[in-house]
Amino acid sequence: MTEPGASVSKTRENISQLRCIECGAVRENGGRNFRCASCGDLLEIVYPGWEKLDPATHKSIWLQRRTSPLPMDESGVWRFRELLPTLRDWNTAITLKEGNTPLYELPRCARAAGMQQLFAKHQGMNPTGSFKDTGMTVAASFAREQGFRWVACASTGNTSASMAAYASRGGMRSLVLIPEGHVSWGKLSQSLDYGAVTCQLKTGFDGCMQVLNQIVERMPVYLLNSINPYRLEGQKTAAIELLESLNWDPPDHIIVPGGNMGNSSALGKALVEMKEVGLISRLPKLSLIQAEGANAMVRTMRETGGRKLVSVDAETLATAIRIGSPASWKKAARVLQATGGTVEQVSEAEIALAKAEIGADGIGCEPASAVTLAGLKKLVKQGFVKSGDHVVLILTGHLLKDPEFTLKFHRGDLLEGQRALGLDAQQRAPIALDASADSVIRILEQAETHTSA
Ligand code: F0G
Repeated sequence: MTEPGASVSKTRENISQLRCIECGAVRENGGRNFRCASCGDLLEIVYPGWEKLDPATHKSIWLQRRTSPLPMDESGVWRFRELLPTLRDWNTAITLKEGNTPLYELPRCARAAGMQQLFAKHQGMNPTGSFKDTGMTVAASFAREQGFRWVACASTGNTSASMAAYASRGGMRSLVLIPEGHVSWGKLSQSLDYGAVTCQLKTGFDGCMQVLNQIVERMPVYLLNSINPYRLEGQKTAAIELLESLNWDPPDHIIVPGGNMGNSSALGKALVEMKEVGLISRLPKLSLIQAEGANAMVRTMRETGGRKLVSVDAETLATAIRIGSPASWKKAARVLQATGGTVEQVSEAEIALAKAEIGADGIGCEPASAVTLAGLKKLVKQGFVKSGDHVVLILTGHLLKDPEFTLKFHRGDLLEGQRALGLDAQQRAPIALDASADSVIRILEQAETHTSA
């Protein structure tokens, strides 16, 4: 492998800068691991050259682009390119027409949570079925612009699926490190089909991340985990698009799942920036929900007020967020403080129930996304969210990402003692029958009596 040109274009430097979140040092480029060369903390992208944008003009340009046939405008990410770092040539962006995801109303889930109304922005409706695509289009484009032939990530499955797709589209090779036995088949099969070199390591996500850090020090591969700040810039656009669809009237609460904390950091950054440039007049509260068995951020906030990371040995069936040492914890802590949001944790049974309830609204999502509804129920009980508040859940992954979880739940063998946990009302196991109309009609009649009862 040859070393790609490390320097970044001067034009881009004029518009955005990489800055350390801790010591404030400004960096020429992200180096190999996107950490500050002085203090080792994470870098973020800032825009010192931003003139105060004229909100009205930009809102109208972004809307007009919705009907434009240009690939850059068809992407729900690059449509907002004035709020993103500048590529030397916009036409070189690697895009799969990501973004432009739907905002759904969830009436049954609203009732289950004690809310008058409830909405969900479904980031699982992106090209590879998760929110990762919005960040990947940006970071993969910058990787290619800098001449990298290889990109790499450690992943619980969605980042790797997305990276593999964008790398292939952009003519790059990709290296995936995933924890053996803890990635759903749906996600694993995606990275194989998209052509990644996929390595299953005998460790968890945090262990994969450590191995990857050593690899990027030794080989000219471009790191595409969410510590890469270009990814977070792309992921910001989900919040921008959400506010646009609400006619720039901010909801009271936005609720997100927390894993490695990249997404919450990105959405929070977008909210703060939108307020700074005058696109919105107040900040929604951004709250983070984790699985009880992977609750590093909850403990970090509760035990240290967000000052020091409390790592945990992660264990949850919501494998996407089975992460014990979240890289972007400090960025997320700042977002929670800036927006006045909170943290909450939910049990495996609460996640499974919430996932089935989101399914029963005709939408569905993968287990990690369902923590949002499970967490909302708790926040309503605590009074942090009022029943009349305007709440948007961010659903991060598609239902089909993890069919094994769904099937086990409905068959009643996902959780130990599942019958006793009171989840039966949502369970619908497949019914094996003789191939006769009579036996099917009997089932139909039973089901009808059951519903009308
Ligand atoms: N929801 C889903 C479906 C995810 O795949 C992830 C993270 C999260 C939520 C948490 O987001 O890490 O930004 O806080 N998945 C990563 C991966 C870690 O490798 O696919 P986060």
